[in-house]
Amino acid sequence: MDVLIGLLGCGTVGSGVIDLLAKRADRIEELTGLRPQITRILVRDVHKPRDVNVPPSQLTTQATDILEDPNISVVIETIGGIEPARSFVLAALRAGKHVITANKDMIAEYGEEILAAAEKAQVDILFEAAVGGAIPLIRPLKESLTANVITELNGILNGTTNYILSKMTSTGAEFADVLQEAQDLGYAERDPSSDIDGLDAARKLAILATIAFQTTVSLDDIQITGIRSITAADVRYANELGAVIKLLATGCDEGGDVRLQVGPALVEKSHPLARVDDAFNALFIHGDAAGDLMFFGRGAGSLPTASAIVGDVIEVLRNIRLSVSGRLGAMRMVAKTVNVREPAPTRHFLRLEVSDKPGVFAQIAAIFADANISMESVVQRRLHEQAAEIAIMTHAISPGVLKNATLILRDLPDVRFVHSVLPVVQGGNH
Ligand code: NAP
Ligand code: HSE
Repeated sequence: MDVLIGLLGCGTVGSGVIDLLAKRADRIEELTGLRPQITRILVRDVHKPRDVNVPPSQLTTQATDILEDPNISVVIETIGGIEPARSFVLAALRAGKHVITANKDMIAEYGEEILAAAEKAQVDILFEAAVGGAIPLIRPLKESLTANVITELNGILNGTTNYILSKMTSTGAEFADVLQEAQDLGYAERDPSSDIDGLDAARKLAILATIAFQTTVSLDDIQITGIRSITAADVRYANELGAVIKLLATGCDEGGDVRLQVGPALVEKSHPLARVDDAFNALFIHGDAAGDLMFFGRGAGSLPTASAIVGDVIEVLRNIRLSVSGRLGAMRMVAKTVNVREPAPTRHFLRLEVSDKPGVFAQIAAIFADANISMESVVQRRLHEQAAEIAIMTHAISPGVLKNATLILRDLPDVRFVHSVLPVVQGGNH
């Protein structure tokens, strides 16, 4: 029996879905007894050249051709953004259609509303592709790991920024030059702000943390810093200190006290996340029973993302076949304290530009001593005739205490700039 599918969007991801579903239709039919068949595809412009062969009669600019077609029982949303995607998804769910989406923006902001609509209609809503592209993250967290209390998430969830930081590390180039190159090659978008300012990673973290910590997390709960201010000098010092700079999305649940943040950090080279390069993504998870786990793979791209979506299609078809659609997830949402809170004390890296004259270092050391901040290592370099650069690694210190000391440092006439203050993620026996 054929199961008719309506596809919303036929861009990078939609084209991959058409391609992969066509390739795997026989296998899916063998597995589920049901044959998935895309019958209608919503686009903005039916005349635009497409990367896949699509019969022109399947293309439409009218969402109602899919949403109001009673023969279509599954909708795959690959439009992106909030509206009209959210309205289309809600209409599909209310019409009793199962929905699969790759849309992290929509799930991060309207996940509760969408999941409630699916529960009410007793249909499936699946979104494995929304976080980490091809990497299975949602299903392991929602099902395979539910015997655990998850206490830590630590991930590289944005491929664009990981590509930029990896290139800065391997070539020594400055941020702006690498960004330009990434845009020219099509790796970074023309407007890269949601990637480089950390918003994309934060949306993905909100989705993962909601599932892992079983409590509702919104974007406002996440402290977000991007990578625009990272320089070639930071990357060079990180390397000398045995670390690489990564944009990390981190979450921890300390006995019901949840803390979340996205920002650049020095990751020691012995940590598995330090070896995740180029546009790859990875998620490190700690569960009380499972211990440390790491998931790694392609976080974006046409076929990698389609791999996750088609996996969701197979689950929807199995559920239809077994008459268990809309079945209860192995999750129980709990009220927890989720706040933009100060992260736990950790080692920090600072880079300062100072006047190169007697007594300046002593002034810095005195401010640190007053704040009870202990320095683990210090490197000083002459920049030019009157200026020097100082890179400091501290012992573990609360970010708030360090921030206050940094404010005092900034006021010293001989401290010209405090360029960077970055947390350090320890390596160890992972
Ligand atoms: P895309 O290449 O820009 O494709 C978007 C598609 O949606 C296009 O076919 C476009 O039609 C159609 N569309 C957009 N607005 C529409 C509207 N108002 N009405 C009808 N059709 C509309 O986007 P994408 O890269 O495939 O991304 C799709 C989704 O997947 C996003 O949520 C994204 O975050 C997510 N995602 C993407 C990747 C990736 O590697 N690209 C990875 C993981 C998740 P036209 O073709 O006619 O313009
Ligand atoms: N802009 C995203 C990234 C695409 O760079 O990872 C996948 O969500």
